[in-house]
Amino acid sequence: MDKLFEHNMLDIDDAFTESSRIVLYGGDCLDAVRQIPTESIQLVITSPPYNVGKSYEHNAAFDEYLGAIEPVVQELVRVVSPQGSLCWEVGNYVEKGEVFPLDVFYYSIFKKLGLRLRNRIIWYFNHGLHASKRFSGRYETLLWFTKTDEYVFNLDAVRVPSKYPGKRHFKGPKKGLPSCNPRGKNPSDIWEVVAQDWERELWDIPNVKANHPEKTVHPCQFPIELVQRCVLALTNEGDWVLDPFAGVGSALIGALMHDRRAMGCEKEEEFLKIARKRIEDYYEGVLQVRPLGRPVHKPSGREKVCQAPQEWSEKDEKEVLFK
Ligand SMILES: C[S@@+](CC[C@H](N)C(=O)[O-])C[C@H]1O[C@@H](n2cnc3c(N)ncnc32)[C@H](O)[C@@H]1O
Repeated sequence: MDKLFEHNMLDIDDAFTESSRIVLYGGDCLDAVRQIPTESIQLVITSPPYNVGKSYEHNAAFDEYLGAIEPVVQELVRVVSPQGSLCWEVGNYVEKGEVFPLDVFYYSIFKKLGLRLRNRIIWYFNHGLHASKRFSGRYETLLWFTKTDEYVFNLDAVRVPSKYPGKRHFKGPKKGLPSCNPRGKNPSDIWEVVAQDWERELWDIPNVKANHPEKTVHPCQFPIELVQRCVLALTNEGDWVLDPFAGVGSALIGALMHDRRAMGCEKEEEFLKIARKRIEDYYEGVLQVRPLGRPVHKPSGREKVCQAPQEWSEKDEKEVLFK
């Protein structure tokens, strides 16, 4: 197939057409998705608002919030192709200290619409706020649904190296032969952050915080790596990838990096502008992207921040003397 973006690569349309390659829709995603033909999108991948009081949200009662998003979900299900997938990445909604895991609530909405859950992926990150009245939250989930049983799943595109590639069958007709797949192993449904990523057995993706090369002003960006893995596994070149809550366009960039068509909708003008600029920067080769598979930095233990403050031991000594 011809490379999709060799010509007019910065043609960014503002509404969906069959021949578009990149679409950035400024406004309400429900209006935009209603204009997309039925079954024309291979992958919907998104992180919807969580109703937790971010700058782009108006805080609604929980039921009201879910009720408002349901028509969007219905439209998204309509536009997904029969071989297509829908990846819904969420965390928790918290009200007066009570935790409502959003994936639990969304699961029943998708199930009612006939979707089939293939994985509930745990995206684990080792940073975040420290809670004082419950354990600190360190993961979010990505629900991967398909519309039918005939779905695209390119496992070979996302395999990771086996932990023990030298293992052999120890009995049966294959006794003595290598037992691992030479292309590597299935990356599993836990995408962990703290160890090494991608090349190792866990899917290890740092969340986008201040020291991450992709960080923009958006308060809760997707890491592009997370999108790339879904794009590679669940779509083929030239397919459409849609993020209805696109923020600063991370899902679009993850799709464009692998020659897929990309559409995003964003209601906030500021984020939309950044999304456009990031896409332009990507094609100019100047976008800061954390390379797929780069190991996450692990402190050696010798760094100053890893040492307990001197005052703590002085305080202990004083307490002993006092007693
Ligand atoms: C959780 S953030 C997604 C961030 C995104 N994954 C990224 O990497 O930048 C949700 C985004 O959806 C946008 N949004 C919320 N409701 C919307 C709607 N009805 N239509 C379009 N965008 C909406 C918000 O402004 C916010 O940027």
